[in-house]
Amino acid sequence: MRLAALRSAPNYRPQLATAIVAFYQASPRLTIAVVVVATLFGLLQPAFVIATGVLVQAAASNTDVAVPLTFLGAIFIITRVLGPIRDELGTALWRRVDQSMGDRIMRAMSIDPSLRQVEDPHIQDVVAQVEGAVTGFGVGQGAQLLTFLWSQRTFAFISLIIIGRIYWWAAMVLAIVHVLGYSGARWHWKEVTQIILGQTDQMRRSYYVRNLALSSRVAKETRIFGLARWLVDRYRHSAIAILEDVWTKRREGWLLGAGIALLLAGTEAVTIWLVAIDSLSGRVSIGTAVTVVQALFAAGLLSTYNDPDWAIMQSASTIEKVRELEERVRTQLTSLSGQRDSNGMPRKEIRFEHVAFTYPGSSHQVFEDFNLTIESGRSLAIVGENGAGKTTLVKLLSRLYEPTAGRITVDGVDLRELDPAAWHSRIAAVFQDFTQFELSAYDNVAFGALRAADDNVAVERAAHQAGAHEIISRLPQGWQTPLSRELSHGSQISGGEWQRLALARALFAVQSGAGILILDEPTASLDVRGEAEVYQRFLELTAGVTTIVISHRFSTVRRADRIVVVERGRVVEDGNHDELVGQTGGRYAEMFTLQAERFVAA
Ligand SMILES: Nc1ncnc2c1ncn2[C@@H]1O[C@H](COP(=O)(O)OP(=O)(O)OP(=O)(O)O)[C@@H](O)[C@H]1O
Ligand SMILES: [Mg+2]
Repeated sequence: MRLAALRSAPNYRPQLATAIVAFYQASPRLTIAVVVVATLFGLLQPAFVIATGVLVQAAASNTDVAVPLTFLGAIFIITRVLGPIRDELGTALWRRVDQSMGDRIMRAMSIDPSLRQVEDPHIQDVVAQVEGAVTGFGVGQGAQLLTFLWSQRTFAFISLIIIGRIYWWAAMVLAIVHVLGYSGARWHWKEVTQIILGQTDQMRRSYYVRNLALSSRVAKETRIFGLARWLVDRYRHSAIAILEDVWTKRREGWLLGAGIALLLAGTEAVTIWLVAIDSLSGRVSIGTAVTVVQALFAAGLLSTYNDPDWAIMQSASTIEKVRELEERVRTQLTSLSGQRDSNGMPRKEIRFEHVAFTYPGSSHQVFEDFNLTIESGRSLAIVGENGAGKTTLVKLLSRLYEPTAGRITVDGVDLRELDPAAWHSRIAAVFQDFTQFELSAYDNVAFGALRAADDNVAVERAAHQAGAHEIISRLPQGWQTPLSRELSHGSQISGGEWQRLALARALFAVQSGAGILILDEPTASLDVRGEAEVYQRFLELTAGVTTIVISHRFSTVRRADRIVVVERGRVVEDGNHDELVGQTGGRYAEMFTLQAERFVAA
């Protein structure tokens, strides 16, 4: 239901109200100040129009012009002073709203301990919209433009009242024309917006291509494979394809706009003509005529649909989606998250019981009926071909996804009953595609256990044990060196060096209390000596910790207490190295022989 609502076309109905409420939540004081100052500004303009009329009348009838002139001057000066204040307030609100929206979306995205939200393409669409990457308008910009819109509409509305005081029928007709004009334009822009927002997914692809051309991380391959030109062409084509639908719609819009403008101009021309006749025949004074004509001009603002209107429409629809996202996360969390503490777990075992799993949005079932008991405090190696489901297994164990059927228990307790954050703090992991945080070397290790991150000694010890200390001593600013070429004073380190840092991070997590260590291809980038040395040390240091190692290297696998071979989502062999190697015709024995032969041949 919620998801369907999130995917459906944006809801524009309570636009302005939705936007103002969100701005108010971001900053009550600034929002009130903006509305007050913008209203005041909007009132000063019709006051100026009236004062001009009075002045003209005084001049025409040869009476004293000092009073109207003084008024006019005063209004002029106040407007001049208020203008920059209004703009400053608008800009301040812009930043606050953007910061608040950024905060809300970050919170909504990170509150779910699993990967479902972050990997959902539709949610990524919402994120792109909040960032203003789709229409070019961020939510905050809507807040800033509200200041103009509010003043403008106040001015236009009062102007219509001024006209109505003299020619009530003209005001009625104008009101109808304005409402028609505004509604027509709004309807058109709503359609344009739907086209643009409907292409968020294509736009994200297009931005991805653009970022490929701009990022240093992929530069090796884009250079070697000569992709630069291709990327530029691909980006241009996709951007044009996206814009084409918009242009088609806009062509209709220009026709509509021209029609509205003609209708409005006709109505205004007739009104001016009548004002002129009345003025010449003395039915209305010259001062009144001047005021009415100016008011007529200003009232025209009522039917214009400009950038501020559009920006607020964007803001409102984005805010609505963020609100839906927040609600969705909240309802999902209450149905999912457990409360039980997992302190000291697993004491006995972790069990996969008839686990079935299919990735969200995928039709391929990775596990159909998977069963495995992992004894606590021992080391288990998982081997199997690419795509067998090894990484998926540890992701399920880490509760980054929920099984689609069956259950995973820890000491007999369903994983779903455990508090997800507490369970995560029990786990230390180095994933196959572990993250290279482009932050300081220190943060890269300390992130293993944020609660102990200030313990320099422990961080340094973990780095030492993972063999990462030498790397750090070579860095220009030691521990504080940012690990990115793209940052000033940053350094780049090698793939194997990154892997040692990731190992140090996991070790730091274990030493800070994690009870399960997951190593998914932990030594794939290490040289042969490095691998042997790291692995041996890890086994010693993590004795008593439930360790799960996934590796294609038998030199690593063979040291584990127990080895399981996973094939097509099932455990097909189970035993220690000697037992499995001894099974003639077994998968393990076959794979081992293949790898050993390669080394012998080499
Ligand atoms: N996020 C994902 N969404 C959809 N399908 C996925 C996702 N991650 C993996 N898969 C699919 O799930 C299956 C199992 O993948 P998994 O990563 O668990 O394999 P693996 O045994 O770790 O392989 P490798 O040895 O290559 O690391 C594969 O068919 C893969 O294509
Ligand atoms: Mg894997």
